[in-house]
Amino acid sequence: MVEPCLSYFAYPADSVGGVISVPGDKSISHRALMLGAVAEGMTQIEGILRGEDCVATLVALEKMGVSINHGPDGSVVIKGVGLQGLRAPLVSLDLGNSGTAMRLLTGLLVSQSFEATLTGDQSLRGRPMARVVKPLQAMGAKIETEDGYPPVLIQCIESLIGVSHKLKIASAQVKSALLFAGLSARGVTAIQSPGITRDHTERMLQGMGVEVNTDDSHKVSLEGPVQPRGIKVVVPGDFSSAAFFIVAGCLASEFGLLIKNVGVNPSRTGLLTILRAMGAQIDIRYNRDYSLEPIADIEVKKSTLHGIEVPQELVPQAIDEFPALFVAAACADGTTVVSGAKELRYKESDRLRVMAEGLKILGTEVSEQPDGLTISGGGLDGGTVDSCNDHRAAMAFAMASVAAKGPIEILGASKVATSFPNFLVTAAQAGLKVESSARTTVD
Ligand code: S3P
Repeated sequence: MVEPCLSYFAYPADSVGGVISVPGDKSISHRALMLGAVAEGMTQIEGILRGEDCVATLVALEKMGVSINHGPDGSVVIKGVGLQGLRAPLVSLDLGNSGTAMRLLTGLLVSQSFEATLTGDQSLRGRPMARVVKPLQAMGAKIETEDGYPPVLIQCIESLIGVSHKLKIASAQVKSALLFAGLSARGVTAIQSPGITRDHTERMLQGMGVEVNTDDSHKVSLEGPVQPRGIKVVVPGDFSSAAFFIVAGCLASEFGLLIKNVGVNPSRTGLLTILRAMGAQIDIRYNRDYSLEPIADIEVKKSTLHGIEVPQELVPQAIDEFPALFVAAACADGTTVVSGAKELRYKESDRLRVMAEGLKILGTEVSEQPDGLTISGGGLDGGTVDSCNDHRAAMAFAMASVAAKGPIEILGASKVATSFPNFLVTAAQAGLKVESSARTTVD
């Protein structure tokens, strides 16, 4: 297959600072689109992420007969069709690079009265689906995969029943897929997770009038069938996109870098706890709660970072931020140890391997364990690294340039558009020197 191949060239920055904002939260945008589609009545979404991942979800919903309009102010208005109102898609649904779209839509579609096939790009076809498929099958769903991987064929069934699930891994995608299925199931669907996971689904369902019970032992339940009602959703800036600039600010911003209107849901902000323990100066100024989620301005300043042993219980709350954190660790004094993070091997790339290999090329001593990395800090050189088409690895390596001694070439950066449209513009606003160059390669 011929694929456009985008590389970044990132040069050491003169100064990092100013005021920036980041695009809308990816997790919340996916949920607002999907729940808005099956709600009763209209859902208006302000600040939605227009990255490729969310566009894939939006197009998939349109292919199932959902009418989605785009207002002049950038908001999106969805005419909900109700839980049983989706129509059979005429073609398979291509979800591109998006694991969230794949897993959550599987949960939403198992109760429909039609067949659907979900597929995606090479990376997505390599991501495990058994974690979602098995518990959904326990509820009565009929799903076929290729040995546990996409494409996923969802067959129609008479009805679903509520089941109590005990998850082995802390995954918001699995939890959300089960809650989505639970909306149409008869009886109580309960999910016990082994740790904290992002709770955007619970918040949005509650906002849409669905009674969702939660407790301190990471258990969540709802009783179906229950029909969500359309609402207005304000999507905050994505903490996971802000994370790259939080790290860049800690490494190089003498006078401070301010990131406006970032979602600071506590189930997502483990990176702040970890960086503060490493010595980072981070100031959080809370804004009002916009409908469902807490939002804040985050100011970071150049800090002397030291290595730490990252507490394992913080891993799920920082799961998408490890590529950025590994760069911070490479620039810190002393050793940083991350363990209990095997899940990083099942993301858009094997993030433990990709980040370890890239940081080694940049002169850092890194050792790789099955569930983590040990990084001896001390600074970074320039060099050519491969992000392996992982958006977060590419952006993390771009941030490395603010502290590196020479330019960094980052191969495989085209997937940055899945979560962070206009990344280069925002990077330039913050004082980074990152350029792109396109070539075409045969994959
Ligand atoms: C997400 C959950 C996380 C995260 C992903 C988005 C979500 O995945 O890594 O980027 O929106 O629910 P897991 O559920 O696999 O941890």
